Amino acid sequence: MIINRQEDVTDAVVDAFKNAADPRVREILTALVKHLHAFARDVHLTEEEFEKAIQYVIALGQKTTDTHNEAVLMSGSLGFSTLVCLLNNGSKGQTETTANLLGPFWRMNSPRTENGSSIVRSPTPGPVLFVNAMVQDQKGKPIEGAEVDVWHSSPEGFYEQQDPKQAPMNLRGKFMTDAQGRFRFRSVKPAGYPIPIDGPVGDLVRATGRHHYRPAHLHFLICKPGFKTLISQIYVNDDDKLETDVQFGVTHAVIGNFVRHKGAAPATDVTGEWYSLDQTFVMEPGNSRLPKPPIQ
Ligand SMILES: [Fe+2]
Repeated sequence: MIINRQEDVTDAVVDAFKNAADPRVREILTALVKHLHAFARDVHLTEEEFEKAIQYVIALGQKTTDTHNEAVLMSGSLGFSTLVCLLNNGSKGQTETTANLLGPFWRMNSPRTENGSSIVRSPTPGPVLFVNAMVQDQKGKPIEGAEVDVWHSSPEGFYEQQDPKQAPMNLRGKFMTDAQGRFRFRSVKPAGYPIPIDGPVGDLVRATGRHHYRPAHLHFLICKPGFKTLISQIYVNDDDKLETDVQFGVTHAVIGNFVRHKGAAPATDVTGEWYSLDQTFVMEPGNSRLPKPPIQ
């Protein structure tokens, strides 16, 4: 169709997409065009702003490498990753869920680790943490034989591949749940960390007057055939940035009950202050698939 007025543009594009062979592609593209056009009308986007927006999209790609994913970071910084997560978990957004963001630092092939063992693989000063976790189905029945990847930052706020002081695979492990659906491990209490702000995400953070930190958390990825792969983060409850996470990841369901202790610990070499976390994960029926690691 020939376009006469700005009001006609949306109909012209929607009409042109109507023969898309895949109905889901048609549905998504039609809605995208309607919302995108409505957005431009809503803010009356100027030509200068449009140029800036195009440069912004280009910068997302240019900033992305094998070891850094600016697009994932941007999606998180706009709350979009959390929205998609909550729409697709907890019975498709109807109930509470421990599902959470994958983040960029998951690696395939974490070292297999015996239940109860430590994932501290090189000297890592910090408060000792004992984690006791349970994996169950929606009826509360323990799930035996689920494979659980665990990974987290050090008490200085660095993942092992960011930090020459840490051994490869430090603070990472792959566990198997036992007959009671349990897995246990020893580690150190993680710290929060800054996200990179030398690209377009940094521009967004500065323009909106926000800080660029994530609250401390442990990552989990739990797999078992017959269940939807559960990707989770459990946040440290004493972190002062829970309410202002730059990636909008924190929901009430994933604030962990980290308890501070003094005195007798589950291991005789631990003296002084230590922490424990008891955590339950609920898996939903569904497709057991592994995500694509966001970086190499
Ligand atoms: Fe993380």
